Parts: sequence; structure tokens; C-alpha cells
Amino acid sequence: MTPPVTAASAPFLIVAIDGGAASGKSSSSRLISERFNFLHVDTGSFYRALTAGLLRAGAAPTDLATVQTALAALRLGTALNGRSAQMEISGQPVADAEIRTSAVNAAVSHFAAIPQLRAALLAYQRGQADVARAHGFCGLVMEGRDIGSVIFPDADFRFFLHADPVERARRRANEGQQDSIVERDRLDSSRKTAPLACPVGATSIDTTHIGLAQVVALMAAAIATKLAAA
Ligand code: DC
Repeated sequence: MTPPVTAASAPFLIVAIDGGAASGKSSSSRLISERFNFLHVDTGSFYRALTAGLLRAGAAPTDLATVQTALAALRLGTALNGRSAQMEISGQPVADAEIRTSAVNAAVSHFAAIPQLRAALLAYQRGQADVARAHGFCGLVMEGRDIGSVIFPDADFRFFLHADPVERARRRANEGQQDSIVERDRLDSSRKTAPLACPVGATSIDTTHIGLAQVVALMAAAIATKLAAA
């Protein structure tokens, strides 16, 4: 019988999952985190939490000086919410309700296009590997737009999910959310710094016509093969 994979026997794995809004990143990365005892990191939630903090501080994405002043005053930390990382600002976790408001939906891609803001988040995002190790997780599954290209270009696995925009809008509506997916993807793909794109060498998966279980099975098979060979 194959012995169970434990934090002591298995290599610490990093899995990067990138893709546009509602491409299936969050659901699949949550399931991968459960299956392999990985820390789940939704970097979109970091950009959203930071956006909420900046809006609270009166910063505007069109006024770089206000963004830099507000950024310098924010102290970032990480709390665990189940097996997911949650951003803390000045010691307080930023609640999920606050990061999914229409004000944040409308502003987040504009703040995310600011190179200074992305630079401020770079070390914080890479540091999630230390958070995962410190809490005894066997690895890290991080979802976003530039994980396989910028944050962890040497990740053990890099997946890129995409789906037809009509199908993605239907998914968001089913979640009861109003979100301008096409507009956010346009902004996220056209920005100069770390645009949304399938990184060279990443495994691209079209999720338009395949269910979540199949997407996760594809990823899990690759990860399990690597773990079995370790
Ligand atoms: O994953 P999401 O839709 O919740 O992400 C919200 C926004 O954050 C998205 O429109 C672009 C930005 N983002 C980013 O620029 N880079 C990331 N790695 C993750 C998110």
C-alpha cells in the first residue's frame, strides 16, 4: 500500500492557477487545496482588500500621490480563514463582504494597473509560501492573473484557465454577483505591467464546456503523479 503523503515526506509544491474573471480559478483552486492539504491563496482577494483599504483612505486610482501615501500607511498581514489566506490591514482581516462590493468591482482593475501597487504586493504574495510552511501545509495553490508569469514563474505547476465570456457572465450571475467581466478582462489584459496572459509553458485549459470536477481531475492527476514520483 502507498503510504499517505504527509508534510514530512512530500516535497512542498507550488501550484499557480491564472485566468480571467469567472474562469473557474477559485472553485478549482479551493478543491485542489483540500485534496492535497495546500494553503489556498486567492490573490484577487488581496487586490480587492487593498482596493477597499485604499478607497477607505480616500485614494483614487487616477491620483498616484494619494495611492502612494495611503499604501505607505497600510500595514499588511495574513490571517487564515479555514485553509485560505485572508489579507489583514493594520491587524484587521478585510471581510469578504467588503471586498465584493460594486465599488470595489469597479475600482480594482484600475488600482491593479498601477505598477507601484503591484510592486508593493510582490513580496507579500511570495511570502505566502512561508505562511503555508509555518502552518504545516504541504504546499500552496495560488490563483490570480500573473502568478505563473511574475509571482512564481518557477512554480511546480502552472495552469491557465479560460472560458467563453457568455458562459463566465452566466457563472457570475448564478453566484448572484453583478460584475463587468469583459471590461475587467480588457483592463487586466491590456495593462503594461503583468497583464493577464497565458504564461509561456503553462498548461492552458478551456473550461467553457467541461465541469469543475473534470478541471480539478486534470490538475490533480498531474500533481499526484509528481507526488508519487517524489
Ligand atoms: O480574481 P478577481 O476577479 O477577484 O480579481 C480582482 C482584480 O484583481 C482583477 O480584475 C485584476 C486584479 N488582479 C491582478 O491584477 N493580479 C492578480 N494576480 C490577481 C488579481
